[in-house]
Amino acid sequence: MQKLRDIVTERSNRLGRPFYANVTTFGCQMNAKDSEKLLGILEEAGFTPSEKEASDFVIYNTCTVRDNANQRVYGRLGYLNSLKQKNPDMIIALCGCMMQEPSVVEKIKKSYRFVDLIFGTHNIFKLAELLYRQMTERHMIVDIWDGTDEIVEKLPAERKYSFKSGVNIMYGCNNFCSYCIVPYVRGRERSRSPEDIVDEVKNLVKDGVVEVMLLGQNVNSYGKTLNPPMSFAELLKRVADVEGLERIRFMTSHPKDLSDELIRVMRDCPKVCRHLHLPLQSGSSRILSQMNRVYGKEQYLALAEKIKTEIPDISLTTDIIVGFPGETEDDFQETLDVVRKVRYDSAFTFLYSKRTGTPAAAMENQVPEEIMKDRFDRLLKEVQRISAEVSGKDVGKVMPALVEGLDDHNPGMVTGRLSNNIMVHFPGEASDIGRIIPVKLEESRGFYYMGTRLP
Ligand code: 5AD
Ligand code: SF4
Repeated sequence: MQKLRDIVTERSNRLGRPFYANVTTFGCQMNAKDSEKLLGILEEAGFTPSEKEASDFVIYNTCTVRDNANQRVYGRLGYLNSLKQKNPDMIIALCGCMMQEPSVVEKIKKSYRFVDLIFGTHNIFKLAELLYRQMTERHMIVDIWDGTDEIVEKLPAERKYSFKSGVNIMYGCNNFCSYCIVPYVRGRERSRSPEDIVDEVKNLVKDGVVEVMLLGQNVNSYGKTLNPPMSFAELLKRVADVEGLERIRFMTSHPKDLSDELIRVMRDCPKVCRHLHLPLQSGSSRILSQMNRVYGKEQYLALAEKIKTEIPDISLTTDIIVGFPGETEDDFQETLDVVRKVRYDSAFTFLYSKRTGTPAAAMENQVPEEIMKDRFDRLLKEVQRISAEVSGKDVGKVMPALVEGLDDHNPGMVTGRLSNNIMVHFPGEASDIGRIIPVKLEESRGFYYMGTRLP
């Protein structure tokens, strides 16, 4: 780190200006969290963070969950190359999930030779060392690890928000859903110790954070490999005990092992937000079995019903994939049926994307694109119709909102997030950011509310 600092200081002195670094994130909350760590390391090394990709050092933290994420990175690399032609000293790095795929790294080595540094998901903590090597040796450095048992604690992080933060509770995934590349690029499940997690949360609270999002590919299997083992529900209770912390969210839950204990803790603990993201993926038991999801349609419906009965004000959201290999119109109708029965507050819908190396990629009966798109459009319409109906249900109520920022479109207004994850716009000013304020929900605008503030 010190050696890197020296070079950065020397460069910055020579240029007579700060040495800028940009971290651009693709993909999920896990990547966003990793990017905060990358930026934390870069700041410690003397870089000045910049929003602009026209910086001295640019790093793309990539995603490969669906092919369009990969295509976006390749597209943007062309743009980076044009920037580098204007500033030959510019350093370009790639990291994240895409880099864990050997075919991607081969392609970059062959066709994108202007890239200076490539590393993966398991060794982001080595950024300073790798960058120092690149800046002294001045050739393409590639360092990808196949996997790791290690969890590196206490990395610096440059948080995007002062009042809320993601907290990793586990890394990797052992579920091997047959369509999904995540277990191959993020490795096996590893849980952090509850002590490390609680310590991090305490430090965040000291630093002004009031809301944390506990992050894992499948938080419900948290702690199974710890010695002694600990359930996710138990961890939630421990985090909720942290004084000064106001709100807890978590992402993502797998329906196969969502316990009654967790439902009870959510119900009884006011700090746990009234929102549960419960990916369905498909409503057809036949397809769910092909997907290796380990639950069927009826089981999912029963679980959703139980959650709604225990926690009536919960907001349920989901992920759905359309066009998994072998999906018929009847299977698709089952998905629509679940959507109509559960009545999600919102749903992320995806076209199935074939990921090389996953079992589903080798399945016969890949669904033709036109059929897939037609189903996708019909699903989206249904999801949006229901979500517009559901999201007006709290008009007239008073609810606490955490103010996240100024409302860009309306001067004199701020944007807040309700416990159930829905946004509300109401009168306020910059000094409200980070505060939790009671708001009367006056009007629903489909996906958000307009409100007035209470004293
Ligand atoms: N094709 C389409 N969607 C996918 N997802 C994961 N893998 C694929 C794929 N191969 C979706 C799932 C998951 C979300 C993060 O991305 O719905 O829940
Ligand atoms: Fe992928 Fe399934 Fe793991 Fe989620 S639970 S990351 S969909 S393999």
